[in-house]
Amino acid sequence: MTVPPAVELIGLTAGYGRIEVVHGIDLVVPAGSMFALLGPNGAGKTTTLKVIDGRHPATSGCLHIGGHHINGAGADAIARAGVCSVPEGRGIFPNLTVAENLRVMNYSRLGLTDAEIRERVFARFPILGQRHSQTAGTLSGGQQQMLAMARAVATDPALLLVDELSMGLAPLIVTELYDALGSLAADGMTVLLVEQFARTALAIADYAAVMVHGEIQAVGQPADLQDVTDAYLGVAS
Ligand SMILES: Nc1ncnc2c1ncn2[C@@H]1O[C@H](COP(=O)(O)OP(=O)(O)OP(=O)(O)O)[C@@H](O)[C@H]1O
Ligand SMILES: [Mg+2]
Repeated sequence: MTVPPAVELIGLTAGYGRIEVVHGIDLVVPAGSMFALLGPNGAGKTTTLKVIDGRHPATSGCLHIGGHHINGAGADAIARAGVCSVPEGRGIFPNLTVAENLRVMNYSRLGLTDAEIRERVFARFPILGQRHSQTAGTLSGGQQQMLAMARAVATDPALLLVDELSMGLAPLIVTELYDALGSLAADGMTVLLVEQFARTALAIADYAAVMVHGEIQAVGQPADLQDVTDAYLGVAS
């Protein structure tokens, strides 16, 4: 039996009010892959992720997750289907401790206790274990991003959506975060990653798409996309 794609978008449009910002895109994210959705500012990357995880409605087109037709399902139903997001800006609670930030997620699907969740998270991200009682707002930017990622990963999603993982972070911690994502993908999780920094994402992704002005300009394996990413995202990215 063939495994259905983790995500399939068919002619998907989305917008805000009367302004359409995603113009009928088609996109297939194979199950178990690390897929990078790249593009400059305002291309529609975040909007696309929000449609996939149910935070924003599509205007038209089809959304399939794991082979199931999802159109119109709420964010709660999509989360129960195993989709979890690390949003742009991380979404952690700065006034809560690391351990408290972990407790605010809903892990009922897994049937694990808080202590078991902590054990899982700290095994994968030891630095968070060392800082479990520290207020999240006092962590470094990279550690905050790690916490946001750890919190999502602890829900054991089938599909992890990550928006701008490397934004504003030092290169060393970005490498560490990407390594962590790589090991999740190696364990079979599908990762859909949105990035402006093409080079780092392309070094690790199995597939990538370049989105510009709400349209997909190119899709393929990273080696096939170098010219397109250089043209749209600049050689420094
Ligand atoms: N809440 C909103 N209301 C109105 N317009 C919006 C809203 N959010 C985004 N937009 C517009 O939709 C377009 C696509 O935005 P989106 O955030 O999806 O792009 P992006 O590719 O994620 O950009 P960035 O790299 O800056 O994060 C932009 O023109 C943006 O100004
Ligand atoms: Mg964005």
